[in-house]
Amino acid sequence: MSASKRAAGRAAAERVQNGMVVGLGTGSTVFFTLERLGERITDEGLSISGIPTSLDTATKARAFGIPIVGFEEVGQIDLTIDGADEIDGDYSMIKGGGGALLREKVVASLSKQVVIIVGLDKVVETLGVSFPLPVEYVPFARTPVKRALLALGAEPTLRAGAGGEAYLTDNGNEIFDCAFEGGIADAEALALALAGTPGIVEHGLFLGLADHLVIGHEDGTAEERSKVGSSGR
Ligand code: 5RP
Repeated sequence: MSASKRAAGRAAAERVQNGMVVGLGTGSTVFFTLERLGERITDEGLSISGIPTSLDTATKARAFGIPIVGFEEVGQIDLTIDGADEIDGDYSMIKGGGGALLREKVVASLSKQVVIIVGLDKVVETLGVSFPLPVEYVPFARTPVKRALLALGAEPTLRAGAGGEAYLTDNGNEIFDCAFEGGIADAEALALALAGTPGIVEHGLFLGLADHLVIGHEDGTAEERSKVGSSGR
């Protein structure tokens, strides 16, 4: 498992060019991207600015010597590299397994190019069959949001932290992980319904945001695919 993540994460880091503002995703696959970017900064003198999608990524990026900047200091983001929990043939994704979906979506939406790094096990035919959809909401609205999710056909489970308490995101919000029997039939319709539900801050359906896919394999190789017709934003 980690050989495929390492292969994908490191291959994607080779797409970063001197002077770029780079969106830095979150998760165990992105760790290997951060590691390789750190090596390139040391070995090649690569000069980049990183916009992290989580406090965890900011800490790791700094440890690898990647300069971190805020939105005040940059305009558009040139390239974002991030993982995914599931990705289908249209490059629609479920993200948020690591709880960073809100910042990940903000950063991806501001990026000219989004590169997704996964192992082959994350490539699926139908979203939601094997991974529940994370939905981030303000704690005040837990009960009405749960009712709304049930009405949309979801089976929501409150995400728990290490001590069994409700997990809190970097933004102080909670997450329901939502199972859908048989998977998500209409991701566009579901995304619209979730976005229109008061109390929900963000959901883990990332539609139309990925341009390029790097799939890592357990033998240490990585395969690159581009979305047909996508030239970024
Ligand atoms: C975090 C995410 C991650 O990208 C996703 O969970 C994949 O993580 P990993 O690379 O550890 O498998 O969406 O919110």
